[in-house]
Amino acid sequence: MADNINLKELITDNSYNEILRVEADKIRRKYYGNKVFVRGLIEISNICKNDCYYCGIRKSNKNVSRYRLTESEIYSCCENGYNLGMRTFVLQGGEDLYFSDIILCRIVNNIKNKYPDCAVTLSMGERSYQSYKNLKSAGADRYLLRHETADICHYRKLHPMDMSLENRKRCLYNLKSLGYQTGAGFMVGSPYQTVDNIVSDFQFLRELDPEMIGIGVFIPHHYTPFRNYPHGDIELNLKLLSIARIMFPEALIPATTALGTVSPDGRERGIKAGCNVVMPNLSPLKFRKSYELYDNKICTGEESAQCIECLKKRVESVGYVLDMGRGDYIGKE
Ligand code: SAM
Ligand code: FES
Repeated sequence: MADNINLKELITDNSYNEILRVEADKIRRKYYGNKVFVRGLIEISNICKNDCYYCGIRKSNKNVSRYRLTESEIYSCCENGYNLGMRTFVLQGGEDLYFSDIILCRIVNNIKNKYPDCAVTLSMGERSYQSYKNLKSAGADRYLLRHETADICHYRKLHPMDMSLENRKRCLYNLKSLGYQTGAGFMVGSPYQTVDNIVSDFQFLRELDPEMIGIGVFIPHHYTPFRNYPHGDIELNLKLLSIARIMFPEALIPATTALGTVSPDGRERGIKAGCNVVMPNLSPLKFRKSYELYDNKICTGEESAQCIECLKKRVESVGYVLDMGRGDYIGKE
């Protein structure tokens, strides 16, 4: 409990911001040096059976032009990324029922066979234990599934009744038990979020002990019920990233696209605050704008090669280096 009071104080008192940032940077340098790992993000489908109130591709948004990449389009994205030097591919999408275990396992298997030196990360939402098991056997290395909020009351304000926090958490524990490098996380400044909710998020993270942690500002999307809410506070986001780095020294923590969307130097500041991952977009240009989770999402107009060049400059401008390797979790000391 005393621990929680301290955490709450750290979160609310802005005089700690710089101290936390400096400490977080010291820790990341001790564990990962000045490396920032690259993950090629492939947004394979914007079709989703869920209706999360915050999300631009929720099923009730009838204004989205829906797409699903073909298998050959997915493989071309990987080829493009591989030729650019990337060694991790992240397949992300809405919960699109088309991607049965048979289809998704075949895709993972084909990518792993063609590029045995690469890691495959999935971010395809909630699936059964058996499904995660099948995908792991097919070669998937990592899975990203933000818990979004660890507080049940807050969870209910962000999601319709057919979704549950219990299942979200169960999925995360299943992923861990199956040996995935597992990613959890939450949005900063999502509607109705309180400081106590954030404390619960860190408590949950401590319990789960994930290898990857995604913490990014909420940004409203004009075709969602949360269209009139403000975006999350970037300073708070940066501070929470530093706290995450200090609590989880070995974690892989991305400087999110959302950070870069709310502030032109958001990702650079994220890196300085303790982040050690960036995720350039490898999706085909013609579909990028359709994977609009929130308004004004950046990097929807550039070729992947340009994205990499731009990120390289950004990362180097603050004294770090892009690392194109697989960038696996280094394990506990
Ligand atoms: N369907 C998968 C899942 O549920 O994990 C992956 C896709 S989902 C769009 C990926 C992440 O986008 C979510 O975990 C959520 O945190 C984030 N996201 C969705 N809407 C957002 C918004 N309006 N602002 C910031 N992040 C958002
Ligand atoms: Fe399904 Fe956002 S509601 S991906």
